[in-house]
Amino acid sequence: MSSQTARADPIELLESAFRSAIAAALGDDYAETDPIIKSSQNPQFGDYQANFAMGLAKRLGRKPRDLAQDVVDALDLSAVAEPADVAGPGFINIRLKPEALGRLLDAMDDDELGVQPDPDPHSVAIDLCGVNVAKQMHVGHLRSTIIGDAIARIYERCGRKVFRENHLGDWGLPIAMVLDQLRRAGTDLDRLTLTELDRAYRDAQLSAKADIRGLARAMESPHAGPHRRAELEEQNAGAHEALESAKRTLVQLQQGDREVRADWEKLIRVTMDAVYESYELLNVRLGPENNRGESFFRDRLPDVIDAFVREGVAEEDEGALVVRFEDRDRPLLIRKSDGGFLYATTDLAAVRFRVHDLGATRVIYVVDARQRDHFRDIFDAAKRIGWDRTADGAAAELVHIPFGAVLGEDKRPLKTRSGENITLRSLLIEAIERGTHEVIRRSEDPAAPTHGATLEELERTGKAVGIAAVKYADLSSDLVRDYVFNFDRMIAFEGRTGPYLQYAHARICSIFARAELDPGALRDVAVLPREPAEKSLALMLLRYGSMIADTARSLEPHRLCTYLYDLADAYSSFYQQCPVLKADDPSIRGSRLRLCDLTQRVIEDGLDLLGIEAPRRM
Ligand code: ARG
Repeated sequence: MSSQTARADPIELLESAFRSAIAAALGDDYAETDPIIKSSQNPQFGDYQANFAMGLAKRLGRKPRDLAQDVVDALDLSAVAEPADVAGPGFINIRLKPEALGRLLDAMDDDELGVQPDPDPHSVAIDLCGVNVAKQMHVGHLRSTIIGDAIARIYERCGRKVFRENHLGDWGLPIAMVLDQLRRAGTDLDRLTLTELDRAYRDAQLSAKADIRGLARAMESPHAGPHRRAELEEQNAGAHEALESAKRTLVQLQQGDREVRADWEKLIRVTMDAVYESYELLNVRLGPENNRGESFFRDRLPDVIDAFVREGVAEEDEGALVVRFEDRDRPLLIRKSDGGFLYATTDLAAVRFRVHDLGATRVIYVVDARQRDHFRDIFDAAKRIGWDRTADGAAAELVHIPFGAVLGEDKRPLKTRSGENITLRSLLIEAIERGTHEVIRRSEDPAAPTHGATLEELERTGKAVGIAAVKYADLSSDLVRDYVFNFDRMIAFEGRTGPYLQYAHARICSIFARAELDPGALRDVAVLPREPAEKSLALMLLRYGSMIADTARSLEPHRLCTYLYDLADAYSSFYQQCPVLKADDPSIRGSRLRLCDLTQRVIEDGLDLLGIEAPRRM
């Protein structure tokens, strides 16, 4: 493969040709100059522009047009482009040759579709989902799960080994509290539903929290007569007793008491069965094999403390152990004065495990923005002790991807009408119902490709549509920003929505279905994009590989979302302007069918990376 086909993206190809030309014209000191290659807004000026000349000329005290012309004279693009011309104040216009575009498209026309393997042989670890045992999965977990899964798929697509790490909240006092309460009440844990468990969790929190401070305040109140006082004291004694009992249960759990341990496992099972069901609905690749929760790290915590003490990174502070940072007021607490460990201690153990044991050179935490400070502390503490190196000495990057909240129409965190958190499950069920309704309604039109399809197929498609709506809306927004959840908007078949992309994809499939053509049989037909709309589509397709690499690097799935929308848009202009099946010339028809086929496969592949299915008819 020549160097001009190894990279399919014409922008990259032009960048390297221009860098060489700039170095040839101005000397090697300028070899790293960014040639500023942009797609042309107007096909009249060619396909691309190189816009470096104005800025560079200013620095060199030269006329931009002269400088641009010198570089153009040194430029060797004859294999791929028409001779470049200098225009206006010093823009360089480039027009790619249809044959060159055809060759580049041929080069991307295999299963990889232009996506290049990432040369880093190390793995990537992605911290995602992170549900808490005994609690319902709510919309907050939705984001972590689907953003994390999309990033995992993108990395896998680039050939990296990915560890999806579900850092479950499955250990510690809060769990012991609910466990203890249920055991004391003699609840049959084998028949417990998650709703009951969730309620018990909240009750346990409440009963232990009718706390001392509240009591003190109430006792001081002039309204607290003797009866009320007695009542409050009794309540507090109860709370105290509940807490003490929970602590005893925690100790039993930690010491591996068989019965307590078995009951704890039941709570996990009740919680996770519901979570797995949501994974299934969401079409994410997560299962029991990804669970490595807080309990997994419990035996490693003393070692964390030892290491921090030994290396002199942590210091005693009134019996507690802390890591101090020069630029922060508050230190990071890693062991309480009563000897207990914290959320942070577990996270340090997890960093160590992911980098050292799993060999990850990128550890990505998909956790909501409220934990930003926590991760800043964890990462800095890990670096201080040198835990950001793999066993083979490679540097590991620890990254937090903070994401915003999901809001209701009232711009407040999404709640049900009665003010409860909306459970993830109920939200997904509604999405699927709406999607199914829409798909069935459309199939009633006798001209629809789905007319006469079985109910089973319509329901399958409806589910895919509903989930696509939710996922695309989530993934296409700028991650750190809160976004407003609006079913009507996200499920529309027009605009920037998941269903629109699915529909665009299904329409391409229907061209082949109508013509009873097997796209695989087209591989030997030449593709030669000549019309402006064909060229724009081709250029868009050729960007796929580098766009995926950029998305992985920047950890911004919304780039992929935007790309797919722009691709569907370029396709729709092409389809309006260029007859495909009706083209008279068989070579033009063949060439256009290949553009259709490539577009279909890129959209299908891209949607798959977002965890969105691409039905073949809608
Ligand atoms: N269970 C935690 C929560 O609900 C999220 C876990 C995030 N991951 C981590 N490594 N701390 O807040």
